[in-house]
Amino acid sequence: MGLRVAILAAGQGTRMKSSLPKVMHRVAGRTMVGWVIEAVGGLGADQVTVVTAPAADELRAGLPAGVTSCVQEEQLGTGHAAQVALDHFGSWKGDAVLVLPGDTPLLQTETLRRLVEAHNSDSPALTMLTTRLADPSGYGRVLRDGEGAVTGIVEHSDSTPEQLAVDEVNSGIYVFDGAHLADALGRIDRDNAQGEYYLPDVVAQFVAEGLPVRAVEAGEEEVSGVNSQQQLAEVSRAMRRRINEEWMGRGVWMADPDQVFIEADVQLSAGVRLYPGVHLEGTTEVAEGAQIGPDSYIVDGKIGSGAHIWYAVVRQAEIGEGAEVGPYVSLRPGTVLGARSKAGTFVEMKNAIIGEKSKVPHLAYMGDVEVGVGANIGAGTITVNYDGFEKHRTIIKDGARVGSDTMLIAPVTIGEGAYTGAGSAISRDVSDGALAVERSEQKEIPGYAARREEKRRRKQEES
Ligand code: UD1
Ligand code: CA
Repeated sequence: MGLRVAILAAGQGTRMKSSLPKVMHRVAGRTMVGWVIEAVGGLGADQVTVVTAPAADELRAGLPAGVTSCVQEEQLGTGHAAQVALDHFGSWKGDAVLVLPGDTPLLQTETLRRLVEAHNSDSPALTMLTTRLADPSGYGRVLRDGEGAVTGIVEHSDSTPEQLAVDEVNSGIYVFDGAHLADALGRIDRDNAQGEYYLPDVVAQFVAEGLPVRAVEAGEEEVSGVNSQQQLAEVSRAMRRRINEEWMGRGVWMADPDQVFIEADVQLSAGVRLYPGVHLEGTTEVAEGAQIGPDSYIVDGKIGSGAHIWYAVVRQAEIGEGAEVGPYVSLRPGTVLGARSKAGTFVEMKNAIIGEKSKVPHLAYMGDVEVGVGANIGAGTITVNYDGFEKHRTIIKDGARVGSDTMLIAPVTIGEGAYTGAGSAISRDVSDGALAVERSEQKEIPGYAARREEKRRRKQEES
């Protein structure tokens, strides 16, 4: 039997108090709906569609290949959203239809597979996923009769005090017999507290018609829906724990996993060491034995094996094998640090190619620069790369020694093995092996201090 999947994601998410569509909020770097799509991906369904609001262009544009979307023009409720999906499926009759919300990022393929298999084993009208919650507030409650058979679902806002005391809740995840679902959706109304077509109302319809309804229980965490910023933070914490456990299982060391933040698409190797306050985001890759933190923020970085980074911000930059970065360093896009090179304390780099074993140990700005192998850049050196109109490049060749506090006024080239004198403003190319000094000669004024003191004393006597 075929399987079609409808992910409901058209709701406003008013409780988030945000202009972003709810399912576009990110958990560990991936949108909530992105997590749900991934979980569904493992089922091998015949068709997957996301029901979206008309304005959700960004959501539709970001859907992976093979996932379609359909538009719910007006948000008239989950029952109406399911109808929009069925209309989109077209020739769905006879297939099972998995309906689930787009706001449950912790849901896993295994749980969905268990639900679909339970459904396929005796093909009732509906197999629904329920869970028990210590605090069920906000959720639809599952109603059962004296024999324990499901009789319906009542939304929180429509519940009586006895119904509110029920701790078994609707997860909003269901597998329907497609034909029965279409039939029942035609018969539900909006006569309820929210004035919406409730998808859960089809449960009572089925029961009234004597159609079989089954329930499968799941753990609380996986089916947690995100309706508020507080729940987004809780779910993010759970996701972080899951991601960190996975990496520790593969040999990554963490001083305190509660303080390590790794996004979904990051790749780590065994033997990586992560200290508290480390954020690894985007497409960051870290090779074996690299040590990061405390307190570092890396977005789309490529970190070589054995590199050592601490108190650093690294964005779209590559750090070579065994390189040293930090403390207090900013590596901006386009920076490539060679193997065993160094970007030391208070160094900023942008679009800087630093050769193997070259060192920039202290207080420097290196922008639009290419440094060869084994060069040393003195403290306080600045590449003056911007003349107010255009950016210009600086080239520093192999083995060059740039003196402390050198201004390299680009475009300029420092030759192989060349030196610059401390405090020089270098605006012309320096030949290989030469020393370039640019500063006025030191003058000495003898007896200055005594004369000054004498002047001060006289002034004091006069007043
Ligand atoms: C829903 C269920 C509730 C269940 C809970 C589980 C209903 C009426 N209630 O409540 O029984 O316990 O989920 O998390 O279904 N959506 C649309 N179009 C709409 C309305 C909603 O696509 O017109 C989408 C939302 O984007 C969301 C999902 O449907 O992804 C669920 O809607 P939401 O408003 O979050 O329902 P809950 O109040 O959480
Ligand atoms: Ca919800």
